[in-house]
Amino acid sequence: MENEQSSVHDFDINLICEYFAGLERQGPGSPESTMKALSFIDGLSKQPKIADLGCGTGGQTMILAQNNVAGNITGVDRFPSFIDIFNNNAKKLKIQDRVKGIVGSMDSLPFQNDEFDLIWSEGAIANIGFEKGLNYWNGFIKKNGYVAVTYESWFTDERPAEIEKWWIDAVPEISTIGHNILIMQKAGYVPVAAFTLSEKCWTDNYFIPQKAVQKTFLEKHTGNKNAESFIELMNREDELYSKYKQYYGYVFYIGRKIKNPCYE
Ligand SMILES: C[S@@+](CC[C@H](N)C(=O)[O-])C[C@H]1O[C@@H](n2cnc3c(N)ncnc32)[C@H](O)[C@@H]1O
Repeated sequence: MENEQSSVHDFDINLICEYFAGLERQGPGSPESTMKALSFIDGLSKQPKIADLGCGTGGQTMILAQNNVAGNITGVDRFPSFIDIFNNNAKKLKIQDRVKGIVGSMDSLPFQNDEFDLIWSEGAIANIGFEKGLNYWNGFIKKNGYVAVTYESWFTDERPAEIEKWWIDAVPEISTIGHNILIMQKAGYVPVAAFTLSEKCWTDNYFIPQKAVQKTFLEKHTGNKNAESFIELMNREDELYSKYKQYYGYVFYIGRKIKNPCYE
């Protein structure tokens, strides 16, 4: 496994969607960290317009919608099965009039310039790239509006080769918190806050819930080598986190847009 490391990119997308659709969240996070990030956002209008990009099934979106944020939230995800669950969740909470999921890609958004008070994205910006995402999304945010994203980040300048290889393969641009803050500033935002997600966001809310669905998933796909290797990969991510968590984690970056570097 060390020499022939597979990554999540090597697996059938339908298999990955089926596995993660059964979970409340598709990445590390928690209601507490979502609320903490929200607490840094000052002066939101009474009915702000918000986009949640790479929303998955909407774990964090529903937290935003139910806590303080009375505005409209549009969740965007590239997978229709996640968006179906997202919209069902909004219906169950009776907030479907103002919380809607749409299928789309975060690098080709169907929105107007300066449309949003806030762009949210947990665990997803790496799919477009931290720098590219912050620059592209800037155009859709009103002046003095906010961006709030979680992103995989190094906590130290150096780390063991094993974990360095794992993350460079998964997120080639992964960098330190200081460097990411500079990127945010160059992309036209005042960095307002950056904080690391707690270990619980990874263990209790990401790895442990997976253990509960793995047995049923493997039973359903008995004899499917791809499914077995995918579960091995997910368990390897868990093992590596236990071994190397002092070197990396998700960081919440919150910034206020002051300009669009493309025009100003
Ligand atoms: C790690 S999951 C995080 C999901 C959710 N925000 C959470 O924290 O539970 C990343 C999400 O990004 C979505 N995604 C990946 N590439 C995308 C793209 N180009 N456009 C929109 N969504 C994308 C995936 O389908 C997935 O739902």
